[in-house]
Amino acid sequence: MSTIQRQDLSREHRRDSVQVVALEALLFTDGKRPKVVRRIYATSSFAAHIQPLFRPVDISHMKRFGVELEDFTYMSNPDNANLMLDTLSPHDGEPPTMPPGGPYWAPAQLALFTQWQNDGYQP
Ligand code: HEM
Repeated sequence: MSTIQRQDLSREHRRDSVQVVALEALLFTDGKRPKVVRRIYATSSFAAHIQPLFRPVDISHMKRFGVELEDFTYMSNPDNANLMLDTLSPHDGEPPTMPPGGPYWAPAQLALFTQWQNDGYQP
């Protein structure tokens, strides 16, 4: 008898610098070691998917407020990332606060940002 179990491994397991975000394993009732049957890797990265979402004007205007949109170390701090997502998202029917007056991020761009967070903030 065995059961399939899926575990969320966000922020725990790394392999060749690409993060394993989840895996499925066979668990055996007779005490044998679990057998991994599927690994699911992170698909997003800051350099490839997130940094390019910011325009040069976003980066240069926000620098003077200490907001480092192009800086992986700054942006991969979950507090900072959540704050960015908050300013970029509409709230209660009100448009986003950033960038002032738009153009606002499309839902797919906001979803990509969230995916990058869920993938464990890959560089
Ligand atoms: C913690 C997050 C952020 C804070 C506290 C913040 C705060 C501000 C403040 C106080 C200003 C100047 C006042 C204004 O023009 O309304 C400003 C301007 C601006 N922000 Fe942000 N911002 C944040 C995130 C962002 C993000 C994520 C973007 C880009 C996607 C962005 C793009 C801009 C741009 C382009 C301007 C300049 C507008 C102009 O000068 O015409 N900001 N921000």
